[in-house]
Amino acid sequence: MRNLVRYAAPLAMVWLTLVGCDTLFTEQPPAGEDFESPLDGLDPETARMFAKGDENFEHVFSVDEGVGPIFNNMSCGGCHPGDGRGTPNEALVRFSMGTDLVPELGGPQLQDRAIPGSQPETLPPGADRSLRLPPPVFGVGFIEAIPVTTILANADETDTDLDSISGRPNWVTAPDFVPPTEVGGGPGLQLGRFGRKANVSSLIQQVSEAYHQDMGVTSDFLPTENENPQAGGVAVGDDVADPEIPALTVLETVVYVRFLSPPAQGERTDQVKRGEQLFEAAACASCHVPSMKTGPHAIAALNQVDVPLYSDLLLHDMGPGLADNRPDGSADGYEWKTAPLWGTRIIEDFLNGQVFFLHDGRATSIREAIQMHGGEAQPSRDNFMNLSPQEQDDLIAFIESL
Ligand code: HEC
Ligand code: HEC
Repeated sequence: MRNLVRYAAPLAMVWLTLVGCDTLFTEQPPAGEDFESPLDGLDPETARMFAKGDENFEHVFSVDEGVGPIFNNMSCGGCHPGDGRGTPNEALVRFSMGTDLVPELGGPQLQDRAIPGSQPETLPPGADRSLRLPPPVFGVGFIEAIPVTTILANADETDTDLDSISGRPNWVTAPDFVPPTEVGGGPGLQLGRFGRKANVSSLIQQVSEAYHQDMGVTSDFLPTENENPQAGGVAVGDDVADPEIPALTVLETVVYVRFLSPPAQGERTDQVKRGEQLFEAAACASCHVPSMKTGPHAIAALNQVDVPLYSDLLLHDMGPGLADNRPDGSADGYEWKTAPLWGTRIIEDFLNGQVFFLHDGRATSIREAIQMHGGEAQPSRDNFMNLSPQEQDDLIAFIESL
């Protein structure tokens, strides 16, 4: 018996190393233990689109299928392993010259790969980099289903309550191809919800641009190839007729991410309960709002339910240490969207035991992520630092249970 125990751990390690992160599980983990399960109660047509979208998400595009001319990765899953967050290796770089965006030099992001015949973009001399770690994609249907008024209720742009915290919305313009019937679509300013600066208002935009910008795959929504202005704007090598994928493929992928269920919360031990109280007392919950309620929704699982995402989805000035100096919509170079904390419990299962936090993955533990909070979050960070070592552990155990 003892020998079995002694050998089981090293064997498991070897097995993990051999199979890598994408195939960490030999069979589907139980519901609530992964980032890949659909919400309950999907009608047959939606379930069919979800299954197609799942295939689309993992599909690795070849040059013959239209990847490029310039791109960053060949599949959604390549950047969002297991539908969770990526590592700094998959991070995207957006760039600026100080606070100026420079479309004539490329961007909004750096496409640093190209198919044969084309030239990848390089960072223009003197440009500032904004590195963005791929966030998880589960639960975005819940984020979409929270009414604008509910999100705005937490905004306090001029800090009228004098708690030093002044969350504010990112108002952005939706591209014309987003139907006005979609959340975040239509004329005028729309509330940004997606992306690390809440710079995107709708899932159709997020997914169409992922195909177009991240993979160089054109669709009915964005039918013109992305070219490299540094190479004179000529796209060579991609002979596939545009659009390379139909609107339906994009919509299936939207359905897939929209109906991905967030993982279930872990056990509420006594330590977790103590940590939860400290999380409130240290004012973490002022930005990491524990829960917001969705509005009326045709799918029962999304209809007027509490969404325990631990974010207000608003922008906060996080101080010079975390600033990228690059504006995005109405977000300035110091501001970031409060990162949702749900799913923290199982992050490392999908990244070979590693974890990366904050917009660029610079923190490799929860403690480090907290220590790097500045700006509006400085007093809250200081509250954490002033806790006893045991209390700090309790608070971290709470976050690790989410
Ligand atoms: C090259 C890496 C890369 C690829 C490929 C990629 N993504 Fe992303 N994804 C990102 C990054 C980085 C962000 C955050 C962008 C930002 O902050 O501006 C993101 C954001 C998202 C979000 C918003 C999540 C949130 O809560 O804010 C969704 C949804 C998403 N991606 C889905 C997809 C889908 C679907 C595909 C394939 C069609 C895809 N991504 C391909 C890197 C990638
Ligand atoms: C003023 C608002 C604010 C307060 C207060 C705040 N946070 Fe944050 N938190 C943020 C923002 C914004 C980010 C994302 C920063 C980035 O992307 O660089 C973040 C990121 C995090 C992350 C990393 C999550 C990830 O997936 O990358 C953790 C963990 C975290 N906060 C925990 C805490 C804890 C614990 C406290 C209380 C001690 C706290 N935060 C207080 C705004 C806040």
